[in-house]
Amino acid sequence: MGKSQDLYKKAKKLIPGGTQLLSKRPELFLPDFWPAYYDKAQGCEVWDLDGKKYLDVSYMGIGACILGYADQDVNKAVKAAVDNGSMTTLNVPEEVELAEKLVQLHPWAQMVRYARSGGEAVGVAVRIGRAKSGKDKVVFCGYHGWHDWYLAANLSDDRSLDGHLLPGLNPLGVPRALAGTALAFKYNDTEAFLKLVEDNEVGTIVMETIRNDEPDKKFLQTVREVATKKGIVLILDEITSGWRLNIGGAHLLYGLEPDIAVFGKAISNGYPMAAIIGRQSVMERAQDSFISSTYWTERLGPVASLATINKLEKENVPAHLIKVGRQVKAAWQAASAKYNLPIEIGGIDPLGHFSFKAAEPLVMKTLYTQRMLELGFLATTAFYASFAHQAKQVDSYCQAIDEVFAFLAKAAAGDPKKCLKGPVCHSGFKRLT
Ligand SMILES: Cc1ncc(COP(=O)(O)O)c(C=O)c1O
Repeated sequence: MGKSQDLYKKAKKLIPGGTQLLSKRPELFLPDFWPAYYDKAQGCEVWDLDGKKYLDVSYMGIGACILGYADQDVNKAVKAAVDNGSMTTLNVPEEVELAEKLVQLHPWAQMVRYARSGGEAVGVAVRIGRAKSGKDKVVFCGYHGWHDWYLAANLSDDRSLDGHLLPGLNPLGVPRALAGTALAFKYNDTEAFLKLVEDNEVGTIVMETIRNDEPDKKFLQTVREVATKKGIVLILDEITSGWRLNIGGAHLLYGLEPDIAVFGKAISNGYPMAAIIGRQSVMERAQDSFISSTYWTERLGPVASLATINKLEKENVPAHLIKVGRQVKAAWQAASAKYNLPIEIGGIDPLGHFSFKAAEPLVMKTLYTQRMLELGFLATTAFYASFAHQAKQVDSYCQAIDEVFAFLAKAAAGDPKKCLKGPVCHSGFKRLT
């Protein structure tokens, strides 16, 4: 099992849950065998603690490393910022430069605030939304992080988040007084949305522009019209959808102009950074509340963001992500048909995923990861495309997909569980948006 699994066993005694992010739990991939820790990473290659090298064709830093690991251009800018001092009593000029860049890319927005992680950035946006509207209630669809405003949805009905997040998620520790302040609707369900906003206490809407399904035009149009008519603040969470289909938020592609948009993850290619951009009349209300934190002023985040956005533009990275994402989806589809193993493919092209339509889908998923790992791939039933996935890497993964589906078909002909070397993986992070 190697040094990584030994370390993970130790971690579980020292760190509740073993990791800081649910999506990085080894049990979600391959219990007892996933190389939980890395020593070094470059491009889309990762070396584990035993010096074994893998090609990462899974989540690429859970969606953060859109250019690839240790990108040279981003690292060069970050190293210079480290040498020049990443934190002082004075502010960093790059946060103004980045704000200018973000409002230039999103002409509907005039002002920008920063945070350093996705969940907290949506928390900031919701605070501003509530400050502006003067109303407590938030309606939302999709996943938006771990904060109280969001988990409050599970206080009144502990299944509200089932279609949006890990089923059965426990809001323990979230004040009961928040019950009824966050209400969920399903993406593209115009009727459900309209019913929720009949309540005049709703002052904020939070949703992703797109995740799995293409947006229904009428749905997006209705959301915008209702928000405008009722003075509700519309927040688009672009933490995962941003920068992959186009430069900036995916909402630019769909002609949907929010009041606030939130970016994280891919905006800085692996360095902590998040941005909250919005209309001046809404963002100014941040000043009437108290939203302030020391490390939101450090230098590496804005510097990494500027270098990342620069490279995304220069190399037209979204076009590349769409192309290789489609190639991998096509390889899954072809292998499924060739070996008669039904699957269901979903997700926007740069963030494709599939599930096995089998009697025991999790057994098949675990076997897929197990066999891929033996072939040198960090793989699961999702592929988050990065710029580091060039033709050579993608072709070799597509070849492995054919090989692994052939193996799975043989396993499925008997008892697939017997081919497993360890326990079945845990069911994943469900975002049925
Ligand atoms: C749409 C969306 N919002 C918010 C978050 C939370 O971001 P973070 O994990 O950086 O707190 C995520 C993370 O997966 C996300 O996909």
